[in-house]
Amino acid sequence: MSGDQKEPVLLRFVCRLRGGSQPILAEASDGLRYVVKFANQPQGPNLLFNESIGTELYRRAHLTVPAWRPLRITESFVCQNQSCWLETPDGFEPPQTGLCFGSCHLGSNHIRLYELLSGRGYLRVRNRNDFWIAWLLDVCAFHADNRQAVFCQGLDGKYCGAFIDQGHMFGGPKGEKDMSFAAPAYLDRRIYPSINFEPMEKYSRSITTGFGARHRNSRKNGRRTRRSLDCPIP
Ligand SMILES: Nc1ncnc2c1ncn2[C@@H]1O[C@H](COP(=O)(O)OP(=O)(O)OP(=O)(O)O)[C@@H](O)[C@H]1O
Ligand SMILES: [Mg+2]
Repeated sequence: MSGDQKEPVLLRFVCRLRGGSQPILAEASDGLRYVVKFANQPQGPNLLFNESIGTELYRRAHLTVPAWRPLRITESFVCQNQSCWLETPDGFEPPQTGLCFGSCHLGSNHIRLYELLSGRGYLRVRNRNDFWIAWLLDVCAFHADNRQAVFCQGLDGKYCGAFIDQGHMFGGPKGEKDMSFAAPAYLDRRIYPSINFEPMEKYSRSITTGFGARHRNSRKNGRRTRRSLDCPIP
């Protein structure tokens, strides 16, 4: 990421979040809250690229994703908020100053967030079909981790799944993982609505019936042809 000092600056540390990249929740100078991932997080050097380009790819595919921005993290933020330092085998390490990745936090007073739903809850997700598209996109983009989403509940009680955590796309944060069909599925398969195979089956029945009729006709014609031509057809 490159920057021209116009990015919002991290101002207030809110809390640490769970996750292998040791993200934090923080408020920036544009007044918004972000889930922040640092350039020197321990998962791998490609993580911030994967997060930003993966999120853009999803957005271009008309899938729901949080808005994201490069954010600036200053020396004074790092010094004043030691609770956001990264845990390493050798002790705590300060986040790298400069640019980091910010995913706009989706919660608000009117929107409740859930990471998991009950079986009945999944039936009230408006965009369940999008999870099939996400799976396809993830397979094509070498996503090496399970698909993650948070569910935003509106005032009507229904949910919208927003796709988060694209850090393991493109072969993972270290770029060494191969394509996998199963890995990028959403862990609770009840999210996937059953596919309606009926039109497909009708289509394939009509093809086979047509093919059968043509095949029978061609055999009859073949017999006629054989007789009329009186030549051996193998
Ligand atoms: N834009 C967002 N809005 C609200 N919550 C979010 C958002 N992005 C992430 N989260 C929350 O932060 C947590 C950590 O985020 P994320 O999964 O991206 O971190 P990670 O370090 O990549 O985790 P992992 O261990 O899966 O690699 C998520 O489980 C989710 O609860
Ligand atoms: Mg995650």
